[in-house]
Amino acid sequence: MQNKIKEIIDSAKEKISLASSTQDCQNLKVELLGKSGKVTELFRFMKEIPNEQKKEFGQMLNNLKTEVESLILAKEVELEKAEIENEINSAEKIDITLPVDENIGSLHPRTIIQKQIEDVFISMGFVVEDGNEVETEYNNFTAVNVPENHPARDMQDTFWLNNGQVLKTHTSASQNRILKKYNPPIRAIFPGRCFRNENTDAGHENTFFQLEGVIVDKDVSVGNLIYFMKEMLSKIFKKEVEVRLRPGFFPFTEPSFEMDVRCPFCDGKGCPTCKQGGWIELCPCGMIHPQVLRNGGIDPEKYSGCAFGLGLDRMVMISLGLNDIRDLNSGNLKLLKQFKLDV
Ligand code: DAH
Repeated sequence: MQNKIKEIIDSAKEKISLASSTQDCQNLKVELLGKSGKVTELFRFMKEIPNEQKKEFGQMLNNLKTEVESLILAKEVELEKAEIENEINSAEKIDITLPVDENIGSLHPRTIIQKQIEDVFISMGFVVEDGNEVETEYNNFTAVNVPENHPARDMQDTFWLNNGQVLKTHTSASQNRILKKYNPPIRAIFPGRCFRNENTDAGHENTFFQLEGVIVDKDVSVGNLIYFMKEMLSKIFKKEVEVRLRPGFFPFTEPSFEMDVRCPFCDGKGCPTCKQGGWIELCPCGMIHPQVLRNGGIDPEKYSGCAFGLGLDRMVMISLGLNDIRDLNSGNLKLLKQFKLDV
């Protein structure tokens, strides 16, 4: 038995000394100390050993096992060190001056502008609300003073669903829910995706984004509307801008306006963005119709309000110099990725 043990330890020592990689060491562990490893197998002889020698024999085997384990471990540590040094000194070097892969995705330009506008309004005390994309006929039309058979319904080619609901045609569809949710004073904006059954061209999309706002308080006037819009536009265009109001028509506002902004790119001198006109039509707006307030549970004798429905896509196109609205829904990454603006 002594011989057998000596034989095993000698052969183990030799194998360990010949190991040339940490992987070799792993293999040796299995070969010698694994379930049917050579050292492990010696423990089977235990039953042939007379009782009075069992203790001594067991001790010897344990010592042997420990010796083999520590020999392998020492060899492994030595080889690992060598392997690391080899890697450091090898020809394969990482050039940390190489530019990183910039193909890491970016926010959609519409998302970027939307966030910028939201931030400006938040800084002026507005809350940002979410709206549904599938809306009831009531919220989309009736609540905002467009009753059935009203000709204004024809202004918006609507996608009707089989259950009588609609894909919201404008963010004004969220007005009623917001008026009911908050007590005045209310300052809220609500961006959202809208849908109309339109033929598409460079200026029209069947799926587009608006960013609506309502302000309701005692004595709200057109002056408030002008103030907030001017503030927002000046921050977005990073310069003091001028706005003007022209008369408009919407059933949910009285009076209704079209807000234009003096072209921030040529300061009104005339350029391709403003089609040489010096002004850019930007945002329909007006004083909230008393019936819309009433529908929202607000007494128009006590409170007044103003609202606007900014065309978010239009705002993005103006800001970035795009001239086809369809680009925004195109998934054309080459185009969309050019706009890595600060958020
Ligand atoms: N909802 C209108 C549309 O999509 C836009 C609009 C006009 C919104 C006037 C308003 C508003 O809040 O006051 O055509």
